[in-house]
Amino acid sequence: VNIILLGPPGAGKGTQARRLIEERGLVQLSTGDMLREARSSGTDMGKRVAEVMDRGELVTDEIVIGLIRERIEQGGKGFIFDGFPRTLPQADALEALMAEEGQRVDAVIEMRVDDAALVSRISGRFTCGNCGEVYHDVTKPTKVAGTCDVCGSTDLRRRADDNADSLKTRLMEYYKKTSPLIGYYWCKGNLHSVDGLAEIDTVGAEMAAVLDQLP
Ligand code: AP5
Ligand code: ZN
Repeated sequence: VNIILLGPPGAGKGTQARRLIEERGLVQLSTGDMLREARSSGTDMGKRVAEVMDRGELVTDEIVIGLIRERIEQGGKGFIFDGFPRTLPQADALEALMAEEGQRVDAVIEMRVDDAALVSRISGRFTCGNCGEVYHDVTKPTKVAGTCDVCGSTDLRRRADDNADSLKTRLMEYYKKTSPLIGYYWCKGNLHSVDGLAEIDTVGAEMAAVLDQLP
């Protein structure tokens, strides 16, 4: 199956994507991770997008569609799209790319979380620089302070765009440009919705139930 995780910044898309990789052998395609990788490897594109990302604005459709096209054309199936599409042109582009490969998006899972919760989730988030595991100061701390539970790395990082100003911009971008996708996929008939405010395991179980029901 190919699925899209749709939700505002901090909804838990990355957290649930990592579970789905493990439990179902799906491949995560996170445009946020791809862009951060481009930044840290210092490519021209990485340099161009760095400021835009730190402000919390969306990168151009052209750039992110290019990144996704490259990955889809490498083949494989069973993708989790995390943080893509984020605009209507991106959604149309994905549809066309999948059709070219003889594939389709089987389910779009909307993760509903209210804005106040997003603020505390984003302000407490940190991730492992080595394996990518996502943590939270309160809801998902490491077992040993300063050390990743999964890989033992001590390279724990906070993102440059996880501050109050950028988060406001990211939320505004979400409501203006990304939330119309909920109606778009509802009309296409493949929209599902889960309560993203529940505990991590409960959200995971709700998602599993959605995926198990797919034809
Ligand atoms: P991106 O990296 O996609 O960030 P985002 O959408 O803002 O999403 P986040 O990674 O912040 O949140 P998440 O939903 O994955 O939550 P997480 O699981 O970490 O994008 C960054 C930037 O890149 C964009 O601003 C833009 O500039 C650019 N970009 C990327 N894609 C683009 C595109 N398609 N088009 C244009 N520009 C693009 O969880 C958050 C925290 O909550 C964690 O600490 C976690 O431990 C905790 N948590 C998770 N679930 C729960 C739970 N159920 N209960 C309690 N705590 C929880
Ligand atoms: Zn790790």
